[in-house]
Amino acid sequence: MDRRITNLIITGFSGTGKSLVAKEIARGLNWDFLDTDDEIVKQTGKPIAEIFRQDGEGKFRELERETIRKACQQRQTVIAIGGGAIVDPQNYELLAKTGLIVCLEAKPETIYERLFREAVYSPETEVRPLLANDNPLERIRQLKASRQPYYANVDWTVHTDNLNISQVAEEVIRVSRLLRRYAPRNDREKARSSIDKDVACVVETATQSYPVFVGYGLLDKLGEKMKQAALSGTATMISDENVFSLYGSKVEGILKDAGFAVNSFVVPPGEETKNIDYAIKIYDFLVEHRAERDDIIIALGGGMVGDLAGFVAATFLRGMPWIQVSTSLVAMVDASIGGKVGVNHPEGKNLIGAFYQPNLVLADCQTLTTLPQRELTSGWAEVIKHGVILDEEFVQFLESNVNRLTKLESELLTRAIARSAAIKAQVVSQDEKEREGKRTILNYGHTIAHGLEAATQYKRFLHGEAVAIGMMGAAKLSQRLGLLPSAAVERQQALLQKLGLPTGFSGLGLTEITRAMELDKKTKEKAIRWVLLQDIGKAVIRSDVPQQEVLAVLRELV
Ligand SMILES: NC(=O)c1ccc[n+]([C@@H]2O[C@H](COP(=O)([O-])OP(=O)(O)OC[C@H]3O[C@@H](n4cnc5c(N)ncnc54)[C@H](O)[C@@H]3O)[C@@H](O)[C@H]2O)c1
Ligand SMILES: [Zn+2]
Repeated sequence: MDRRITNLIITGFSGTGKSLVAKEIARGLNWDFLDTDDEIVKQTGKPIAEIFRQDGEGKFRELERETIRKACQQRQTVIAIGGGAIVDPQNYELLAKTGLIVCLEAKPETIYERLFREAVYSPETEVRPLLANDNPLERIRQLKASRQPYYANVDWTVHTDNLNISQVAEEVIRVSRLLRRYAPRNDREKARSSIDKDVACVVETATQSYPVFVGYGLLDKLGEKMKQAALSGTATMISDENVFSLYGSKVEGILKDAGFAVNSFVVPPGEETKNIDYAIKIYDFLVEHRAERDDIIIALGGGMVGDLAGFVAATFLRGMPWIQVSTSLVAMVDASIGGKVGVNHPEGKNLIGAFYQPNLVLADCQTLTTLPQRELTSGWAEVIKHGVILDEEFVQFLESNVNRLTKLESELLTRAIARSAAIKAQVVSQDEKEREGKRTILNYGHTIAHGLEAATQYKRFLHGEAVAIGMMGAAKLSQRLGLLPSAAVERQQALLQKLGLPTGFSGLGLTEITRAMELDKKTKEKAIRWVLLQDIGKAVIRSDVPQQEVLAVLRELV
């Protein structure tokens, strides 16, 4: 389809805040705003509900089609369209030709709440007549399900459940900028083609805005993606021996084919390498090869390589462009997103570091086929964490597909990683430097996990294993405080176990753990900020958790 994108179209079910969001975006972009429902009301002098009642839905759809046809002749306009409009193929074609279509999504329960309980989201009248029904929640579910295939055809979807109007508007603006930027535009034909489907999400912070590409077999497109991101020059690839022996020469070849000169520096695998001595070795290598400020650092590997290479990129020549090519599950869904880079100090992990965002992140899920099983399993803990704190629908997706995910089925694996990465991206975009507390919810399960890791000198548990146990602790704690029903605790436990993660531990004294958690030292002013659950998909932060409850939970975990 030929596309000349001049408008931004906002669609989605009623109660997702389309109209308010579109207005806010228009203000932000300094564009015009148009709401097709409002236009119809203006034109007919009747409220939508009355048109439905007096003239029937058919008449309304006719008016809607005509209004959309006119709206599509605008330029630089943010157009909010009724939730049922894109079901019509004629409307869809017209809209897609002239605008980038963003769908606002929300769970049926959220929609119900917003339409019937809250005044914040003024409910569009369009859906009211359809909902004049005994069981509105069920009707929303059905109607939404029937529209889902059409909503799936849009360029981008924003989940609005945990966002307010201006946050949704910000997200749409950021995404629309990026989609336009990454739309291929070197020649006319390409300029009209649609947007880059490999973008799983966009991280936008004060210092950098960058795409996270997720796909199966995506390594082949690395050179192309780098050129699209306007990177050029010499690439210094940093990798560890394991990863380099598997993928090093392949990636070197891909980069050379794309016109980059490549030098590779390979370090030993393992957390012990993530220290300042190895950073210095890499500085020496860069000096020796006369690296310049516009050259590129590429981290090819897991989180260890990413943190180390990113730290070098942040500091050498006061900062060089860098990209992360993640090869472990932990790196794909967690470490590569958010720009925390650094090295360990003998006295503590990650004590030396910076916030330094990459220029792009690329995850080829196919590389997970060579990742050792225990590393893979450990990575699932962070994936589950992302669902459990923010996205119940994603938890459902994981639950229904556990078997196929553990078999690394390409399509489902890609979807799971893309969604998980997107959740992390959304959180860090709102709170890059962990100043506003929003990023804190990512610490779900980590308070106890750190205790377990430190008490065992970081030798016994992989990080994800400790996080899985910590998540069980946090869930049980939430239950004890009356926040979470026991069924939800069991649900989390079942999912963790199905993915092969531990949910308890043995052979470790409680005092060692509490000492490592510094529970004994915490005073009221320095109380631990616990990330707890109110429901699956809904995290809360509490600083008033009594110590005896924590101890009781630790005992339960043994
Ligand atoms: N920056 C952040 O926000 C952040 C977040 C989480 C974790 N981290 C850091 O990430 C590190 C943990 O990450 P990790 O679990 O990826 O560890 P890692 O990088 O050490 O990788 C784990 C092991 O898997 C191997 N490996 C990686 N990809 C492979 C592949 N495709 N095939 C075969 N082997 C492969 C590695 O060689 C290594 O032996 C820690 O240093 C942690 O502090 C950082
Ligand atoms: Zn973690």
